[in-house]
Amino acid sequence: MYTEQQTRDLQGRTASFLQLLPHLPAGDVEALRDVLRFHEYRYYVLDAPLVADYEYDQLYKALEAIEQQNPALIRPDSPTQRVANALNGAFATVQHLVPMLSLDNSYNAEDLIDWDRRVREGAGTAGIEYCVEPKFDGASISLIYENDLLTRGATRGDGVQGDDITTNIRQIRSVPLSARFSAYGITQIEIRGEVLLTKKQFKAFNDKLTEQNLPPLANPRNAASGSLRIKDPEIVRKRNLEAFLYHVSYHIDQNNQPPAELETHSGSLDLLWELGFRSPAKEKKVFTGIEGVIQYCQDFEAGRDDLPYEIDGMVIKVNRLDLQEKLGMTTHHPRWAIAYKFKARQATSKLRGVEFQVGRTGAITPVAKIDPVPIGGVVVGSISLFNEDVIKEKDLKIGDTVLVERAGDVIPYIVKSMAELRTGEEQPIQFPVNCPRCSSALAREEGEAVWRCINIDCPAQVVERIIHFVSKDAMDIRSFGEANVRKFYELGWLQDIPGIYRLPYDKMRQLGGFGEKSITNLQTNIEKSKSQPLHRLIFALGIRYVGETTAKTLAQSVRHLNDLSLLSLEELQSLEDVGVKVASSIYQFFRNQANIELIRELETLGLTLQSEKKAPLGDGLLSGQSFLFTGTLNRLKRSEAEEMVETRGGKLLSGVSSKLNYLVVGEDAGSKLEKARKIPQIQILSEDDFIKMMGGE
Ligand code: IVH
Repeated sequence: MYTEQQTRDLQGRTASFLQLLPHLPAGDVEALRDVLRFHEYRYYVLDAPLVADYEYDQLYKALEAIEQQNPALIRPDSPTQRVANALNGAFATVQHLVPMLSLDNSYNAEDLIDWDRRVREGAGTAGIEYCVEPKFDGASISLIYENDLLTRGATRGDGVQGDDITTNIRQIRSVPLSARFSAYGITQIEIRGEVLLTKKQFKAFNDKLTEQNLPPLANPRNAASGSLRIKDPEIVRKRNLEAFLYHVSYHIDQNNQPPAELETHSGSLDLLWELGFRSPAKEKKVFTGIEGVIQYCQDFEAGRDDLPYEIDGMVIKVNRLDLQEKLGMTTHHPRWAIAYKFKARQATSKLRGVEFQVGRTGAITPVAKIDPVPIGGVVVGSISLFNEDVIKEKDLKIGDTVLVERAGDVIPYIVKSMAELRTGEEQPIQFPVNCPRCSSALAREEGEAVWRCINIDCPAQVVERIIHFVSKDAMDIRSFGEANVRKFYELGWLQDIPGIYRLPYDKMRQLGGFGEKSITNLQTNIEKSKSQPLHRLIFALGIRYVGETTAKTLAQSVRHLNDLSLLSLEELQSLEDVGVKVASSIYQFFRNQANIELIRELETLGLTLQSEKKAPLGDGLLSGQSFLFTGTLNRLKRSEAEEMVETRGGKLLSGVSSKLNYLVVGEDAGSKLEKARKIPQIQILSEDDFIKMMGGE
């Protein structure tokens, strides 16, 4: 897409623009857009950025400023024009220029050899060239570019008609808003591809859901198709979707002269790549004859787990477009292409029973027990059903044949029960009314999907809380593990969290079964955990709705764990990402005497309750004063400014509330400034005011 020379030029221009910041001349607007498009391409298509995110943001803001002051300069393909400010209404139905057909499937070498024979017969020639590329497991889309501009994006729908999702497609930053098709004499073109979430984005998304006690999405494919139908483009943008474009289905050319690149499929992938699309140009490979094809498919299957995105097979296409035309299609699929499906990560099995597990917050999780089946190399026997609603929605019954899926490293889930295979012997699943461990009554809060055991001393909850405390993401006490927690609990050595730090090592030695080395190891690791950073301890305490991210925010807002008990509901809510529900859970936690006792005990045992922040130096000039920075500072780095406050004993808050004394406002300050203006006791300082206050000029 960009030659080395162009890359150097654009880098040069980037550097000059960065030097001129914050204000860039309006006359440079097109050059600035080119620079931003180049960096979007480096970041989203090549995954090889050449500037820091912060630098990109500054340049982007400069472009926004120019366009705001000179609206006549705005172009539909400006990098600023991805973000829409209105919600999508109902998606309009649109006609595809060419029907979007499906693919025929093959599952093994024989199927491919068979298909190759049919192709050779149909084409009337031997030595056929095949182009092989991944089969992306996402949601299919079609894009139309007219006179180089993206004019329409649509879902597959029924193959003939789909939904117009142009606004949402514009949120996918690897999809160019304009591309120089005209350089190839193409005036209108329809291209097809697949939208998906990378495995990493998918995991991040599900982690967020789990933190909120919501059932995670089943797989990246569902996540992608769901995301494309969201009404709010801003939310779509945050999903960080990816789009692979792999097929040119229609084009109109100047003087009816198609470019030579479009004579072969591999040529069209290269052309798309050349124009800035994330096509599988680098993954594709062309073979003459079927043997190489088979090998390439098998190699890809072996490495599928190492790819950053999910694929469910490979697609083999006859490379020459004139031969494709000759072969034609059935009503269902083209004869010139076939999918080679990887080993299914789905299987059917019998649902034998449901166990009800009690979590550390008392949540009752139904777990399906199925006849163990191998799926994707792992034997699956237990599958979480998350909550009662899932059982109802899927209409599951004991004795049902169920379809189970396990995609990559995603946890297995039940897709559906096969109602048509029922014999009438199936039994309904009875959700318990009492805790299966301590028999206390279960309660379900208004608006919540989970039933909980409300007995805080329920042995199951106690054990789970300890398991969570020592776990890898919490205090990370290596060599402790779930099995030891259970064993020590049964032996009566470990009744609560402080008990971890008072284990009877002598008894352990007497009991046998523990080597001296493993005992010393355990002891050392437990000792080490005392100095884990505060955010780990906060997460380890298992406050409901407080995941790792929130724990970090909390640790950063205080100097000592006990300070959290001083924060009002309002102050908690002013913290980043802390909503009403989370704030009230934290607030309740610190108003429970048992929790206060627990924290006191942990402090006596020598755990670090202090935040990582350095103790105030000097005379503590700012002690008792709180600060918050917003917008872009010009003279100081944000971190320097914050350090200035802290070394003088001042406190940094992460949100605007009545506890805030000073809001320091940089450029382009947003909602925090507006909010602060409404609270009279907050003093608003400019960067210069702040520097003066710190004794500078
Ligand atoms: S070619 C007429 N290539 O798989 C051309 N399809 O199971 C038909 N898919 O509907 C499509 N990766 O949504 C093609 N590299 C790829 C693909 C691919 C994923 C999807 C596509 C298609 C479905 C068929």
